[in-house]
Amino acid sequence: MKTIAIASQKGGTGKTTTAVHLATAATLAGYDAVVIDLDPQGSAATWGDDRGETAPEVISGQATRLNVLLESAAREGFDLVVIDTGPAADAAARRSAEIADLVLIPCRPSAFDLKAIRTTLDLVEATRTPAFVVLNAAPIRSRSVDEARDVVLGMGAKVSPVVIYQRAAYGHSVIAGRTAQEFEPDGKAAEEIAALWRWVKTEMKIPPKKQTRAA
Ligand SMILES: Nc1ncnc2c1ncn2[C@@H]1O[C@H](COP(=O)(O)OP(=O)(O)OP(=O)(O)O)[C@@H](O)[C@H]1O
Ligand SMILES: [Mg+2]
Repeated sequence: MKTIAIASQKGGTGKTTTAVHLATAATLAGYDAVVIDLDPQGSAATWGDDRGETAPEVISGQATRLNVLLESAAREGFDLVVIDTGPAADAAARRSAEIADLVLIPCRPSAFDLKAIRTTLDLVEATRTPAFVVLNAAPIRSRSVDEARDVVLGMGAKVSPVVIYQRAAYGHSVIAGRTAQEFEPDGKAAEEIAALWRWVKTEMKIPPKKQTRAA
C-alpha cells in the first residue's frame, strides 16, 4: 500500500481537489484507493457523502489516529491512500508528510501563493519524504507557469512535470460528488488528471494492476 499526503499551509490551493481527483483516477484505473480526510473543515468527507457508495471511500479522521487508520486500510487491502489535510502547518500536515511515501503540495502560480509556500516546504523537508509542488489552477496561455516553476526550483524544491490548469470541470464535478474524469471524460481536465496519476504511479513505483478498467 502506498500513501500520498496532500499538504499546503495556504488555503484554497487545491488540496481537496487534487486529493479526490487522484484517488478517483486510481480507482478508475482499477486500483483500490481511499481518501483520509484530516481537515476539520471536512470538504473531502462532504464530497464522499455526496458521492454515496461509489469508490473511492472517504474516511474522516484525526492526525493522532493516522497510524490506526493506515493499518486498517492496509488490512482491508487498499493499494493507495490519499490523505487530504487542512490549510495549516499543523500536526496533521506534519504527521501525514512523515508517514507518507510522497507529498504533493498544490500551489497556484501566483505571487502570494509562491511566497506562502516556504512554510510548507520547511515542514515537509524536515520529514525527508519525497515531495513535489504541483502547480494548480494555472492560467491557460500564460507565462506564469514557467515563472512559477522557476521560483519553486529556485527554492530548492521539486515541481511535478504535470501542471493542472484552471478549468471549470474541476469545480463543477466536485459539487456533485464526482470528478472531472467522470463529469467530462473527454475533456482537458480529465486528460490532466490521467497524466498526473500516470506520473504519480511511475514516481511511486506502483505496480500495474492485473485487471484494469482503464489504462
Ligand atoms: N485547477 C482548478 N481549476 C478550477 N478551479 C479549481 C482548481 N483547483 C481548485 N479549484 C477551486 O478552488 C477552490 C479551492 O480548492 P480546494 O478546496 O481544492 O482547495 P484546498 O486547498 O483544499 O482549500 P482548503 O485550504 O480550504 O482546504 C474550490 O472552489 C475549487 O473548485
Ligand atoms: Mg481542502
